[in-house]
Amino acid sequence: MNSFRRHRRLRQSGAIRSMVRETRLDVTDLIAPLFVVEGENVREEVPSMPGVFHFSVDRLEEELSELVDLGIPAVIVFGVPSKKDAVGSEAYSEQGIVQRAVRRIKELHPDLCVIADTCLCQYTDHGHCGVVKDGVIVNDESLELLARTAVSQARAGADIIAPSNMMDGFVRAIRQGLDEAGFEYTPILSYAVKYASSFYGPFREAAHSAPQFGDRRSYQMDPANAREALREAASDVEEGADLLMVKPGLAYMDIICRVRERFDLPIVAYNVSGEYAMVKAAAERGWIDERGVVMELLTGMKRAGADLILTYHAKDAARWLRGGID
Ligand code: PBG
Repeated sequence: MNSFRRHRRLRQSGAIRSMVRETRLDVTDLIAPLFVVEGENVREEVPSMPGVFHFSVDRLEEELSELVDLGIPAVIVFGVPSKKDAVGSEAYSEQGIVQRAVRRIKELHPDLCVIADTCLCQYTDHGHCGVVKDGVIVNDESLELLARTAVSQARAGADIIAPSNMMDGFVRAIRQGLDEAGFEYTPILSYAVKYASSFYGPFREAAHSAPQFGDRRSYQMDPANAREALREAASDVEEGADLLMVKPGLAYMDIICRVRERFDLPIVAYNVSGEYAMVKAAAERGWIDERGVVMELLTGMKRAGADLILTYHAKDAARWLRGGID
């Protein structure tokens, strides 16, 4: 009599569906991005990212209270400096925008986990993530500056250092720098697998970090490659990474899944700016149901194997999670 399986038995009611649900998104999975700018009394919306703002340090308080009240456990700080130069000095200045913001955040909310994005592209006048010589992004000379940046961020109070620049050996250089400065217990969240993606457009507009010549394909990965992602992740694990990032998320769910199968470290999926902008634009036109689409995307990243999700939808998702998923 069992000629076909009645899968629908377990889909009959909300109660049963919730009992057999395999993946649960939780507010503690979320990391919220924060863009901080120089100046005073700034709270300005990023045009291609509705709902995302630039804040000056003095205006962070209200936003942080909101995040903390929603139960979001972590923020990642992206700095937008007003001065740039060839070697990105503002990235490792004690009075740099990220350093000042981190000190303020820890003063206001000592328990909030503050992650510092460690890169040079916002701070260099050429917009590349490392030192440039004769039009080439030089690897080993960039490492010293990245380590210096990481140490100054840790000194300011950052709880986690997140290098995103894709120079070879950056985890080892930063680990060494942190250890020598007495920050042996500061974890490194490596942007281990970062693709040269067209989905970063709105971020580059928000962070004024577009490269002024060429592109990032000599250091970020080719979107066509999956085995290379495993090599990238393996070297970061060897060098001492504590958490691994896969970025972007949406077009790379297979990569999240493969990295999950191969490595035991916690995985962070970065639901990037272009993914956010697409959802917002379609929702604004009434073409998709924003809540449904966002929750499906974030759940999909978790189902693929992410433990944590860095997303511009963090506040909305936290609110929707409060209301319960049906
Ligand atoms: C800096 C950096 C980028 C993003 C995060 N850190 C941009 C880039 O590589 O050009 C993009 C994030 C997003 O699109 O949300 N290297």
